[in-house]
Amino acid sequence: MDNKLVIVIGSVRDGRFGPVVASWFADQAAAHGGFDVEVVDLADVDLPLALPAASPKYAGDDYPRPAGMAPLTSALEGADAVVLVTPEYNHSYPASLKAAVDWHFTQWAAKPVAFVSYGGAAGGRHAVLHLENVLTELHAVTVRDGLAFPNYFTAWRDGRPLDPAAPGYAKTLLDQLAWWAGALRTARASSPYPA
Ligand SMILES: Cc1cc2nc3c(=O)[nH]c(=O)nc-3n(C[C@H](O)[C@H](O)[C@H](O)COP(=O)(O)O)c2cc1C
Repeated sequence: MDNKLVIVIGSVRDGRFGPVVASWFADQAAAHGGFDVEVVDLADVDLPLALPAASPKYAGDDYPRPAGMAPLTSALEGADAVVLVTPEYNHSYPASLKAAVDWHFTQWAAKPVAFVSYGGAAGGRHAVLHLENVLTELHAVTVRDGLAFPNYFTAWRDGRPLDPAAPGYAKTLLDQLAWWAGALRTARASSPYPA
C-alpha cells in the first residue's frame, strides 16, 4: 500500500497564488509514484481562531472541532506524510496555517512534514523556518530538503516554474519524504509514539 500524502494549501486570501504551486507539486507527487495524494485547501475548511478551553494535546478524539474542519482533521489523521504549501507573510507563515496546526496535535505526531514555499527574494524561507520550529513542538519530523520559489511572480509561467531543475528538486524532496513516511508508519504500527 502506498503512503498517503496530504498536501495543504496554506493561504486563503483572495487572489492567492497558493493553489498554483500546490497543483504543480501535486502533479510531481503523483508522478513520483510513492504516494496516494490528497490536496486539502484551507480556504474550504472552517478554521476559527478561537480554540476550545482544553488543549488538543490532552483532549483526544472528542476534541470539539467545527463540522467544517472534519475534512482537514481526517486527512491529517490518515496521513503518512504532509506537505505544507506556504507563502511568506511578514517574514512568517499565514494565520490560516497556524490555526490549522493548532487545532490538532496527535494528528502531527511521528509524521514527516515537508515544505513548499514561495514569496519574494527569500522564497518563503522565513515562513518555513518558523514552521519547522512549531512542528517540532508537535512531535512531527520535518524534512530538511524543501522547495522554495523566490520571486514567484516572474519565476512561474502557465502554472509551472520556469527553472528546469524544479522537478528534480521536487523528486529529491519526495524521495526523502517517502523514506520517512515508510519508516515512521512502520514505527507507529509497531509501538505507540510516546507523545
Ligand atoms: C500580509 C502580507 C505580507 C507579506 N509579507 C511578505 C514577506 O514578508 N516576504 C515575502 O517574500 N513576501 C511577502 N508578501 C508577498 C507574498 O509573498 C505574496 O503576496 C504571495 O502571493 C502570497 O501568497 P498567496 O498569494 O498564496 O497568498 C506578503 C503578502 C501579504 C499579503
